[in-house]
Amino acid sequence: MILSIESSCDDSSIAITKIENNELIFHKKISQEKEHACYGGVVPELASRLHAIDLPNILEEAKPYLDDLKAVAVTNQPGLSVTLLEGIAMAKTIAITKNIPLLAVHHLKGHIYSLFIEKEEILPLLVLLISGGHTQIIRVESLEKMTILATSIDDSVGESFDKTAKMIGLGYPGGPIIEQLALKGDENAFAFPVPLRNAQLIAFSLSGLKNAVRLAIEALGGAEQLTEQNRCDIAASFQKAVKLHLIQKSKKIFEQENIKDFAVVGGASANLYIRKAYEELCKKFGKKLHTAPLEFCSDNAAMIGRYAVEAYKKELFVDPYEIDVVHTKKRQSGTLL
Ligand code: KG4
Ligand code: ZN
Repeated sequence: MILSIESSCDDSSIAITKIENNELIFHKKISQEKEHACYGGVVPELASRLHAIDLPNILEEAKPYLDDLKAVAVTNQPGLSVTLLEGIAMAKTIAITKNIPLLAVHHLKGHIYSLFIEKEEILPLLVLLISGGHTQIIRVESLEKMTILATSIDDSVGESFDKTAKMIGLGYPGGPIIEQLALKGDENAFAFPVPLRNAQLIAFSLSGLKNAVRLAIEALGGAEQLTEQNRCDIAASFQKAVKLHLIQKSKKIFEQENIKDFAVVGGASANLYIRKAYEELCKKFGKKLHTAPLEFCSDNAAMIGRYAVEAYKKELFVDPYEIDVVHTKKRQSGTLL
């Protein structure tokens, strides 16, 4: 079995995965959303202190399995340095004291492997990753060969949902709030611009749309003056513009990539309105759509463990005395390390 730890942002999570058949033996996650909500976003210092409390509590529950561990895995990039370090400290302590190998996992590769929790890998695969930190389309050929085909030049999808919710005076995380409000709104009430609509560039951009939302709120007299219906209409119109943008650029990728399997992963892939749009697009292009179960879309250690099983088989071990946070620069294109 492999014990995996995730602490890249505001979720403390530990999982135990059986190497032989990918079975998820144990999984627990403590989310800090409530603690960060009043700040309208994640406060790194507070997040790391909460990980320091929550991770040992979860480990206590995983104790019955600790004698059967063959390896330990931990997310070491990308994420908040101070929170990643909490997971890394725990993982390297376990690796050294139990004298078992250590695996360092790239968080985004973990999101991709959320598709394969308790399942076999499906490769090659085209993936749209929409999370709080990233928006990318990735060609996945193997564990080691993942190529970024398109990426956001500014905000990510999750971030744009969070910022829109904040602008209309609502809490954090904004994604689920906006999705729910949108159900009661008119998506044609506001004509928000679809980003990069006339650009040939295959990339994502969400900061212009955010600005358009800000201007619409100002025109209505500011967040305090918004009626409940205004909020629902803004949410629905914003979500529609995000969907049209994602679909337009994905279509361009579909025209140039003939891989049959396509997946949407990451926190924002829990959005059913966006999922539905991809079901229709995939049908049109004869592609098979894959998504992770809703509980594994946002950050969790089960996806880190699933990736770790494959990395373990390839013996991609790291030195527990050397492991550190890797400071990842946002890449325009190229290999996902
Ligand atoms: O993957 P994730 O848990 O963390 C990162 O790796 O960043 O993604 C979190 C993001 C947040 O920005 C959150 O607002 C967004 O995913 N999100 C959603 C939905 N649920 C979560 N965005 C849109 N619709 C949702 N239903
Ligand atoms: Zn994530």
